[in-house]
Amino acid sequence: MVVILNDRESFRAARTIRTMTSSVSRSATAPDPKPNRPRVFSGIQPSGTTHLGNYLGALRIWAKLQDDNDAIYCIVDLHALTLPKEPGEVLAGTVGMAKMLLAVGIDPDRSVLFAQSQVHEHAELGWLMQTVASYGELSRMTQFKDKSARRTGFVSVGLFTYPTLQAADILLYDTNVVPVGDDQRQHLELSRDIAIRFNSRYGETFVVPEHRIPAVGARVMDLQHPQNKMSKSVDSPQGTIGMLDTPKEIEKKIKRAVTDNDGEVRYDPKAKPGVSNLLELLAAATGANPADLAENYSQYGPLKADTAAALIAELAPVQKRLAEIDDQDAINTLHAGAKKAAEIAAPVMTRAKKAVGLL
Ligand code: TYM
Repeated sequence: MVVILNDRESFRAARTIRTMTSSVSRSATAPDPKPNRPRVFSGIQPSGTTHLGNYLGALRIWAKLQDDNDAIYCIVDLHALTLPKEPGEVLAGTVGMAKMLLAVGIDPDRSVLFAQSQVHEHAELGWLMQTVASYGELSRMTQFKDKSARRTGFVSVGLFTYPTLQAADILLYDTNVVPVGDDQRQHLELSRDIAIRFNSRYGETFVVPEHRIPAVGARVMDLQHPQNKMSKSVDSPQGTIGMLDTPKEIEKKIKRAVTDNDGEVRYDPKAKPGVSNLLELLAAATGANPADLAENYSQYGPLKADTAAALIAELAPVQKRLAEIDDQDAINTLHAGAKKAAEIAAPVMTRAKKAVGLL
């Protein structure tokens, strides 16, 4: 049974986490309605090399969350344009990222997987979000401050307003839970603030989302500069483990990872960021606790060897599946996913426009 609800009713149903068959009307091609399942939404940029931080902080959790949630995953190609790109670069990255997401286990039969630019409501709601976020709020975003400070020359307006598009991504799907790494915490808090402000200005319209940040692996640090997070946009090839790195490359990078001189293995991210990062990587790959793991080691060498071996074992199945995925299959998956996403996003966009009072 599909229950067709009016805008306000559909909002209320979504907020109470799907106690009815469906919170928005869906056609036959929409994913099967999943009663009582929270809606999960997250996104990743199709730029640079997908690295271990993306995988441990987000992607492998996305795959797990498909079991008990109504999951929607988005390749945020419009966000990637906030830093200058060559023609075609984003498209190639989008196809590559779709293959990566399929390889980590995102299953298009259980989740919606799509590219942001194919669902125009993201850009449309992004504008409305800009009108309810303040200049001061956006100026406080640390990612904007870091990224703009690292650039010499052109800094796009889009880099500044980026978090408002991110809020639109999330709010368009009546999202309950957003699984992300720790670096997205501030953007998520802003999304919540924007939803609350919109609701209080125009009446209840958006579900206010919660973030889900993993206990271990939420902030994987650069192996050469362990005070900085591992990042797609920072050029640190020896500090970054790419998802496609060979076992030899992983061994070499872990062996050369910066530690410190006192030789003590202890989990203390502030005082010993390099060693703690290795412990955290080993913990993330083995399911153990980083502080407990520290007790098994009295030297850095064995810790590094075990960490490299655990990471190689963790990435091997993903690499194997990736090699078997065809570009065209990935593109077809995105096209099909965009149709399903649009069917969910369109009624929410209409709800927002009606709430504001637009013709
Ligand atoms: P992006 O593309 O930079 O990263 C994708 C995901 O990977 C996580 N991540 C990390 N986790 C642990 N350690 C690290 N070193 C590390 N580096 C990255 C990120 O936290 C993220 O979860 N703004 C987002 C994309 C986005 C989005 C959204 C996310 C756009 N719209 C809506 C959630 C919901 C970004 O640039 O992620």
